[in-house]
Order: sequence, then C-alpha cells, then structure tokens
Amino acid sequence: MQKKRVMTLVLSAVLAMSALTACGSSREGAPASAPAATEEKTETADAAADTSADASADASADAAGAGFEAGATIGISLPWLGTQNWKEAETMFAEQLSAAGYNPIVQAADQKVPQQQQQIESMIENGAKVIVVGPIDGTQLGSVLEKAKAAGVYVIGYDRLIENTEAVDGVVQFGSVRTGVMQGQALLDGLKALKGDAPYNVELFGGGPADPNAPNFFTGAMSVLQPEIDAGNIVIVSGQTDFTQCATEDWDNSKAQKRMDSLLAGNYSDKEIDGVLSPNDGIARAIITSCEDAGQPNPVVTGLDAENESVEWVWQGKQYCTVAKPTKDLVAKSVEIINSLQAGNGMPSTDVKTDNGKIEVPIYELDPVVVTKDNEKEVFADDPDRMALLK
Ligand code: BGC
Repeated sequence: MQKKRVMTLVLSAVLAMSALTACGSSREGAPASAPAATEEKTETADAAADTSADASADASADAAGAGFEAGATIGISLPWLGTQNWKEAETMFAEQLSAAGYNPIVQAADQKVPQQQQQIESMIENGAKVIVVGPIDGTQLGSVLEKAKAAGVYVIGYDRLIENTEAVDGVVQFGSVRTGVMQGQALLDGLKALKGDAPYNVELFGGGPADPNAPNFFTGAMSVLQPEIDAGNIVIVSGQTDFTQCATEDWDNSKAQKRMDSLLAGNYSDKEIDGVLSPNDGIARAIITSCEDAGQPNPVVTGLDAENESVEWVWQGKQYCTVAKPTKDLVAKSVEIINSLQAGNGMPSTDVKTDNGKIEVPIYELDPVVVTKDNEKEVFADDPDRMALLK
C-alpha cells in the first residue's frame, strides 16, 4: 500500500517534471500538475468517480452560495509540532483566525494517525465550518474527511496533499517537487562553489515516507542529481539512491543522525564526504552534527524551513543552505480562502490541479526561496525575528 502510493507519487512527479521542462514553467502541483496528464486522466478515467466528484462540486456550490456565520468555528488539524513550521502554524492560525472573528480549534496530533482522525471527528462534532488539515499520512484520512463533507464542512489541505479521497476542496502549499528541484540544484551549486572540481562524494536523505511531500522533495532533487550521478560527477559512496533507503521515518532527526553515523563509519573511514542532500533543517543539523562527531570537514548540506537554528548555521557557514517557505504566507493564504468561503464566494479559482489518486484537487501554490549566506539578509529583510539571528 505504502509502496504503491510512493510509486504513484514518483510517477506523477516525473510527469510533472517533464511538463515543467517541456513548458519551461516553474509551476507545479504536488505530486503532478502536468496539464496533459491531468486532462487525459479526467477525460479517460473513472466515469463513476466523475459522477460523484460532480455531486460533491454541486454540494460545494450550494454551500458556497450560503456562506456561514462570521464567528464560525474553524478546525485546524496539524500533524505534529516537531519542526518550527508547524509550531509557527499553530500560533499563527490561532492569532489570525481570532483576529478575523472566528472561533479557532487548533490541534496537533504527535505523528499518530488515530489521534489526528479523532481530533478531526471532534472538530466536526463541534460544528466546524472549515477544517484545515496537514495530514500525518496523506492516505489515512479519507473516511473521517468524508464524514466532514457529509456534514457540509469544507476541507482544505495545508502544506501536504490529502490523497485518495474526494473529500478535499483544495490544498494550500509550496510546490513540493519544485522545492526538491531547488534543494538538488543548491546542493550541486554548493559543491561546485566550495568543494573544488568533481567528482564529489555525496549521500542522500529523504523525509518521512507517510508524508506525501517527502517522496516529491526527493524526486525533485533527483531530477537534478541523477544526471550528475550518471556522468560520474557525483558519487553516492554508499550506493543508497532509492527513496525507501534514504527516507527518515517520521522525520525523526535522531534516526537521520544514526543513519549518517553508520554511513560514515561504513563508507568514509578513508575518504571525505563532500555533500549531503537533506530534506529539511532538523535533519540537516543532525547530519552536520554526525559529520562533526566523525571528524569530517563540513560537507555542503541542504535544508528546508528556515528554522531559527539553521538560519544561524547558514549565516555561520555550518549549513550551506535552507529553503524558506514562510508559514505566515501559507497561513494567510488559508485564512483568505476561509474568508471567501465565509462570505459565500466558494473556493477561489486556480489553474493548478493535482491528481490525488481520486480527483483533481485545486492547488493554491506559493513560491519557496533558496537561502544561502549570500542572500540571507535580503530574504529575511521583512522578518525581524530571523534578521536578529544574523550577526
Ligand atoms: C513540511 C516541512 C517539514 C516536514 C517535517 C513537511 O511536510 O513541508 O516543512 O519540515 O514536513 O515536519
């Protein structure tokens, strides 16, 4: 099941990548927004699914016409609070929804799927008009979200895709394949800038396999790195290049550190490691710490989230880069959609759609930015908290 999902994502992501290359556009949905693939699927596949999708679109249209009361309850279901982006989301949703006059219920589920299902159930019971969900596992919320839809609740995915269900009205996110492309390109740029001429010794890490973003980040990065591996410019000394070998269960930094320790012990006693692909900042810091402990010179390491500690490490030259995907923008976009629903204007229109295994989900996509020491002050110019870390 898990494997099948990953394969579907990888296939879709590859389609998205080829569409990206073909039209020279930087737009993407996660896992796929390839217009040709999208149209083909809609035209040829699932007549039955189409019928029910139409039915749910009609239901949404009715609800859209009605809107709902200004002080309505809004549920926010987050997967965990283990990385800074989710902690920021918890605070910002509570603040921004309260300021807009809503009654927010904001909960996080500690990486436990049944806990997240139960929290969403209770949001429905408490009369939530919209539920915003960052799923722990993109495939495991179908039945509870179908209950939400049956109760007339709007369902919005947050940061991560909700898969294999019709019970989702749209997803707000930074394109995940695109983010991975940026990470792969930044790793390559950093190697060239800091590690002399190729070949470079590199290892690869992925995020939590249940998170639909994680295989997409990896696929995006590999679209840049694989040609360099094929050309012999990058050598994956351990030979571990499959997402399943490189994934980090539950995005757990300590598991990544253990894997890095054993990669170094098993493969690098007589050589230096030049670079490591890391899917986020917590894992990046675990990798860098492992290299320090092993007496390795600092490799080029990528990241994601612009977490405070990594913003400092990038400034100090310990971590080569991060990718900023500002939570405040993602939350603001979500609140904008909630306001549109409240006013009876329905879901805003968007050209980006993604096949989630059941339907074409509208995607509201924001732009991530690669951050290195060179552009750090520029990127965080409007972020006094992060600017204060650059000294
Ligand atoms: C998010 C990242 C985050 C990771 C682990 C991903 O889905 O996009 O920002 O670092 O989950 O929490």
